[in-house]
Amino acid sequence: MAIWDPDLYLKFGAERSRPALDLAQRARILLSARTETGAGLSILDLGCGPGNSTAVLAGVFPGSSLTGLDSSGEMIAAARSGGPAASWIIADATDWRSDRSFDLIFSNAVLQWIADQETLLGRLWSTLADGGVLAVQVPGNSLSPLHRALRTTAANGPWRNEFSGLDDLIRYHEPDFYHEVLAPFGGTVDVWETTYWHVLAGHDGLIDWYRGTGMRPWLEKLADPAERAAFISAVREEAAPAYPLRADGSVLFPFRRIFFTAVKSTGVNP
Ligand SMILES: C[S@@+](CC[C@H](N)C(=O)[O-])C[C@H]1O[C@@H](n2cnc3c(N)ncnc32)[C@H](O)[C@@H]1O
Repeated sequence: MAIWDPDLYLKFGAERSRPALDLAQRARILLSARTETGAGLSILDLGCGPGNSTAVLAGVFPGSSLTGLDSSGEMIAAARSGGPAASWIIADATDWRSDRSFDLIFSNAVLQWIADQETLLGRLWSTLADGGVLAVQVPGNSLSPLHRALRTTAANGPWRNEFSGLDDLIRYHEPDFYHEVLAPFGGTVDVWETTYWHVLAGHDGLIDWYRGTGMRPWLEKLADPAERAAFISAVREEAAPAYPLRADGSVLFPFRRIFFTAVKSTGVNP
C-alpha cells in the first residue's frame, strides 16, 4: 500500500479542502429537503485522508454522524489526532463492504487512485439510503503542464526503466464517463467542472504540492535519495516555463476538478 505523508499533504490543506467545501455545500442543498441543519444524517467520507475533508463535512453538516475511511494507516492516524469526532476505518475502498447505508457518500480527490471506478460507484450506490446523495470530486488535470512534465521526465531520464506499472496508476476520466456510469442507476445526476487558480510559493511550492500527491508513486520507485533529488529537479525544470514567476515570486497554478452528484430516488438500485 502506498505511503502518504499527512504533513506534506496538509501543507496545502486550504487549497486541497476548497473543492470539498464547494461539493459539501452543494450536497447540503440537495439534502435540505431531509434536514435543515444536517443533524441526524449519516455520512461516509471515502478516502478521508488526514481528516481535512471530514472536517469540512462536520462544519457543513453539524450534528451528523461521520465515518471516515482510508486505506492509509498514516492518513487515518493523522485524522484521528487532528480530525473531527468521527468513526475512522482503515480499509481499501475497492474491497470494503458496508453493513449499513449512508445518507451522504462523499469522496474528495480519491477515485482517481481506483482502477475500476464503475464497480466501486455501483457498490456505493447500493450503500446509499433512499433519498441519499452520492457526491464526488476527482482531479481533471491529466493534461496539465505539471503532470506532463512528470511523464516526460519519467520517460526520458536515466530512471526511465524504474517506473513500470505507473502508466495506468492514476485513472483520469472526463465528465462524460461519469455521466455514462451514473445514468443507468436511475438517480438524478449532475456533473460539472471548475478550475481553481491556486497561488503557490514559486516552483518549489509547485513541486511540494506534487510531491504530496500525484508524484508520490514515481518517487517511491527511486530508492536512491540522490536519484530522487535529481528526478525532482528535472521535473521542476521541465515544468517551470509553463508557470512563470510573478513579481512577488509566486506562481499561478490552475487546477481543473470534475464534480458529480447523484440523488437516489426511493427504491432505485443498479
Ligand atoms: C488526495 S487524498 C484526499 C484526502 C481528502 N479526501 C481530501 O479531501 O483532501 C487521497 C486519499 O485517498 C486514499 N486512497 C487512495 N486509494 C484508496 C483506496 N483504494 N481505498 C481507500 N482510500 C484510498 C489515500 O490514502 C489518500 O488519503
